[in-house]
Amino acid sequence: MTPNRDARILMTFPVTATSHLLAEARARGQYSALDKALKTMTPAEIGKEVTASGLQGRGGAAFSAGRKWSVIQLDDGQTHFLCANADEGEPGTFKDRWILENSPHQLIESMLIAAYALQVRHAFVYMRGEFSGPYRRLQAALDEAYDAGLVGENILGTGFSCDIIIYRGAGSYVCGEASALITSIEGKRGYPRNRPPRLTVKGLYQKPTVINNVETLSNIAWIVNNGSAAFKAIGSPKAPGTRLISISGHVAKPGVYEIEIGYPWKRLIYEDAGGMLGGAALKCVIPGGISTKVLTAAEVETLNLDPTEVEPAGSSMGSGGMIAIAEGTCMVRLLQVMLRFYHHESCGQCTPCREGMGWLHRIIDRIVMGMGRVEDLDQMIHISKLQDGNTICGMGDAAGYAVIGILAKYRHEFEHWITTGRSLCEGKLECLASS
Ligand SMILES: Cc1cc2nc3c(=O)[nH]c(=O)nc-3n(C[C@H](O)[C@H](O)[C@H](O)COP(=O)(O)O)c2cc1C
Ligand code: SF4
Repeated sequence: MTPNRDARILMTFPVTATSHLLAEARARGQYSALDKALKTMTPAEIGKEVTASGLQGRGGAAFSAGRKWSVIQLDDGQTHFLCANADEGEPGTFKDRWILENSPHQLIESMLIAAYALQVRHAFVYMRGEFSGPYRRLQAALDEAYDAGLVGENILGTGFSCDIIIYRGAGSYVCGEASALITSIEGKRGYPRNRPPRLTVKGLYQKPTVINNVETLSNIAWIVNNGSAAFKAIGSPKAPGTRLISISGHVAKPGVYEIEIGYPWKRLIYEDAGGMLGGAALKCVIPGGISTKVLTAAEVETLNLDPTEVEPAGSSMGSGGMIAIAEGTCMVRLLQVMLRFYHHESCGQCTPCREGMGWLHRIIDRIVMGMGRVEDLDQMIHISKLQDGNTICGMGDAAGYAVIGILAKYRHEFEHWITTGRSLCEGKLECLASS
């Protein structure tokens, strides 16, 4: 069957000044899935539907939601926890923000269904500290839902009770990593921790815990209402559904777009996002947050936004935070900004990440100051490879991928800067001036 490339699951309504409110959400059918789930389905049946849907995590690693949930033993007599990851710290990513601000009830309803399926009494939303607007929206939506008997004690008179608590972080990138998020909620320093044990075995307060991204969870109500077969019919066979893509960089209309998985890359950039600023040529794309490897314009030319195409091309769809970069952009400067960020955000627990980030940052600064050596480039690759697989959390690996990805494709720009003391792109980024 040829998939319909324009299916929508999350962005199904025009955003207005009142479309986030409970009355309008209910008029759109919100909370009917909760009613169906609590009154006609067992927790195990919901788990089976989610597994059958093939829903993959939207937070970056694309892990199967059903497989993660299936680790929770419903009859183990333990307290279980659920956390929605609303930290959204990956540079270039701002799609969960769209849900939190414009469709908070979609998240709340989906979290309640997930809580019922996982037998959770207390669920958390871990939200980045900078999200003041989204926090106010979600808290107001929760207040409305509590008043309507949709959250809290004896939901919809079914005997099922669940509270949802918003926990606000303090602006640390690494606190978006699932185990760091948990230690942060526990009131400790937000350090990632080694696994095993998996968080689904020993998570928050040492209890079995499911952590899913906001967008991942927000699909659950739709799956319960429409069934796993309908979900699988959307998207691509190995990656069903839609993705929210936040596109930024040198495009005319940066923003959040819902695309069916398999959507043509060029269509997103040139039709939805209005093309490149000032008619500039596309140089490259960072597909899913800066932790994913850069792809050149030629590489994305015929590619579809489908992990089964993006991964063989050497990158991944990551967190859906796409950055479109115009011809004339200096990749040396770009990598410098990225390394400053990673160095600043390293929590410092693992030597390869703590020291490696510092070395990488210092080397790139030295290159930009005109004191680089050609050997520095191999040294950067060597340091990046040392980080790969040798750290507690994925940040060490991811930062290394960014370095290796950029140097593999744009090494000549670094060599030019080192040998001439100037950027190869100096004065070439005309799109910003002409737009
Ligand atoms: C350094 C780092 C930062 C992360 N930040 C986020 C984040 O802001 N939001 C998110 O959903 N996942 C983030 N993740 C991924 C989470 O660890 C986890 O895989 C995800 O929340 C699981 O949800 P999902 O399976 O629904 O994608 C991050 C991972 C790392 C290594
Ligand atoms: S990889 Fe970096 S951020 Fe992650 S735990 Fe180690 S030092 Fe901290």
